[in-house]
Amino acid sequence: MKAVRIHDFGGPEVLSIDEIPVPKPAPDEVLIKVHATSVNPVDWKIREGLRKDKFPAKLPLTLGWDVSGILEDIGEKVSAFKKGDEVYGRPDPTKNGAYAEYITVKANIISVKPTSIGHTEAAAVPLAGLTAWQGLFDYGLLKAGQKVLIHAAAGGVGTYAVQFAKWKGAYVIGTASANNADFLKRLGADEVIDYKMEDFESVLNDVDLVLDTIGKETQLKSLNVLKDGGRVVTTLMPEFTAEAKAKKVHLIGFTTQSVPAQLSEIANLIDSGKVKPVIEKVLPFTSAKQAQIESEQGHTRGKIILQVI
Ligand SMILES: NC(=O)c1ccc[n+]([C@@H]2O[C@H](COP(=O)([O-])OP(=O)(O)OC[C@H]3O[C@@H](n4cnc5c(N)ncnc54)[C@H](OP(=O)(O)O)[C@@H]3O)[C@@H](O)[C@H]2O)c1
Repeated sequence: MKAVRIHDFGGPEVLSIDEIPVPKPAPDEVLIKVHATSVNPVDWKIREGLRKDKFPAKLPLTLGWDVSGILEDIGEKVSAFKKGDEVYGRPDPTKNGAYAEYITVKANIISVKPTSIGHTEAAAVPLAGLTAWQGLFDYGLLKAGQKVLIHAAAGGVGTYAVQFAKWKGAYVIGTASANNADFLKRLGADEVIDYKMEDFESVLNDVDLVLDTIGKETQLKSLNVLKDGGRVVTTLMPEFTAEAKAKKVHLIGFTTQSVPAQLSEIANLIDSGKVKPVIEKVLPFTSAKQAQIESEQGHTRGKIILQVI
């Protein structure tokens, strides 16, 4: 089978299209025939060697930690799925990913994919969708009527976070550049702040929750817009814990986990028309190099999909 792998850490040039054997599922695993995968910033961060401590993995490594596809083989201890099931999920980032024709994953990290969309769109969901869900609800404890600020609202995580927060009944504020303002209002944002023209810190206050996907100065300033006891939940390193403590607010970092029950809830929201994946473009998976270069520029609207079949 074809797989897009790295043999060394480095720039986009280290991505190599290799011919390798189809993996065999262990007793607790399934073999997925990959239909589509998607690009997340973690893909190029791992490629560059920036996540060696957080996600230690052996080289050569197949990249890509979103998958939607059809089960081709089932490990002998797996009873929850059968051959032919259409599934989606976020494979383990310490193991081979889904820029490949086949992938094996543990059966307990996947879920049945949404039925109302194809694999191309479903591949846009797991990693970014789970991150938005866990950031808002597991760590952010977001409730109806609360005010939430979502940074990078037009990005992979942000486009789900805006829709989930709106569905929950929150008042949703997003940061984005001006060309994404109308798009985000259509998606459900009540207010959009153009981060290039306006300083969010000087126009916002009494925010219950900030979902920080930018870090650094944005994270520090986010502490200043919270109400007492409010939360900044970050997908990056929580750098300003002392400042948060002094202000009597919470700063919480987290790493997304693959939770099948949440993938099922998200699939239900998609199938009931309440949430839809936002896809900027679809490329063949052999164009992973181009896709990663674009992702690394940091201005993707929603997701870039890599189509396998
Ligand atoms: N901890 C975890 O487990 C975890 C999980 C998922 C993601 N992450 C991390 O979270 C971050 C976001 O991921 P993602 O997939 O959402 O990234 P992404 O899709 O690449 O984000 C792109 C978006 O960022 C926006 N943006 C860029 N600079 C901005 C700024 N200063 N203020 C506001 N918006 C800005 C862009 O909007 P404009 O084009 O309008 O500028 C663009 O829409 C990444 O660093 C990723 O590695 C961590």
